[in-house]
Amino acid sequence: MQPITLTRFLIEQQRREDSACPSELRLLIETVARACKSVTFAISKGALGDVLGTLGSENVQGEVQKKLDVIANEILLDANEWGGHLAAMASEEMETIHRIPNRYPKGEYLLLFDPIDGSSNVDVDLSVGTIFSVLRAPENSAGREVTEEDFLQPGSEQVASGYAIYGPQTLLVLTLGTGVYEFTLDREMGAWRMTDGPLQIVSGNKEVAINMARRAQWSPAIRRYIDARVGCEEGPLAGEYNMRWTGSMVADIHRILKRGGVFLYPADHRKPGKARLRLLYEANPMSFLIEQAGGTAIDGETRIMDAKPTGLHQRIGVALGDADEIAALLGTVGEMA
Ligand code: AHG
Ligand code: MN
Ligand code: MN
Ligand code: MN
Repeated sequence: MQPITLTRFLIEQQRREDSACPSELRLLIETVARACKSVTFAISKGALGDVLGTLGSENVQGEVQKKLDVIANEILLDANEWGGHLAAMASEEMETIHRIPNRYPKGEYLLLFDPIDGSSNVDVDLSVGTIFSVLRAPENSAGREVTEEDFLQPGSEQVASGYAIYGPQTLLVLTLGTGVYEFTLDREMGAWRMTDGPLQIVSGNKEVAINMARRAQWSPAIRRYIDARVGCEEGPLAGEYNMRWTGSMVADIHRILKRGGVFLYPADHRKPGKARLRLLYEANPMSFLIEQAGGTAIDGETRIMDAKPTGLHQRIGVALGDADEIAALLGTVGEMA
């Protein structure tokens, strides 16, 4: 018997006592999953599809946009506008929120996404992904226009999150708050088929993902935690750890969900508020998945999903993965406080 499809999984989640997947959320997830199929087909064309390279334009992040950043953003907007399941959308590639046009019905959900994560990898054929996060529009927004403020909810308010990873296989990894499940795209049938889950992060895989080139930005505690593990010739942990850094958060997080380890992108210790990763559509959706898989996700000191956002594109430090490793990091932070 073929592995069950995403559609069957969502229907079975909808039937649960806690009905983890009301029908509008099921429509939302299936719509995002279908859009990710279009993204993977666009990416796999590569140079043959005129999808590589940059547009010359800058996004609100101050990054030069890749063609695929914009193509994927358009695919997700077009796919989600008309279904009646959303009140509005927000994206790394859009300065402000995208409201549902008046010609379409509005729904109760807010969708946030990073249309192409790791886009510096697109032109060199390395894995990239799409990250998405789902919030409920505030009750009081029903009779009025949705505002940016409505999106500024802590990650603990997410009702679903996930990513597609466009690598040797095309996978969708999803949580509705009832565990983390992996689906592989069956390209012949065009169906997403469940291939793993519920995922649980194994402890003890001594793999660290961090960009060592940013060492000057790290706090003394992060330096001590890394120095005791990576590149050290003496000490109790010398020689036990390996390093991985892919330049795509999706690829690093997927590896951690599948075989353990930790991922760190610390905030810049020298400049308060300066960090690389975005809270609402990178750190929060990934933290939901990591916690649902038994891991821990902090900003270096406190739980990421407790952070009260102050801006749509706000950045935050990230340290997540194997709960034992994050506990060891917090121990080091405590020692040095
Ligand atoms: P994006 O491509 O969506 O802008 O995100 C890239 C992020 C993340 O995917 C990755 O972990 C990190 O940037 C890599 O940062 P460095 O280039 O500083 O290593
Ligand atoms: Mn970017
Ligand atoms: Mn990203
Ligand atoms: Mn991106």
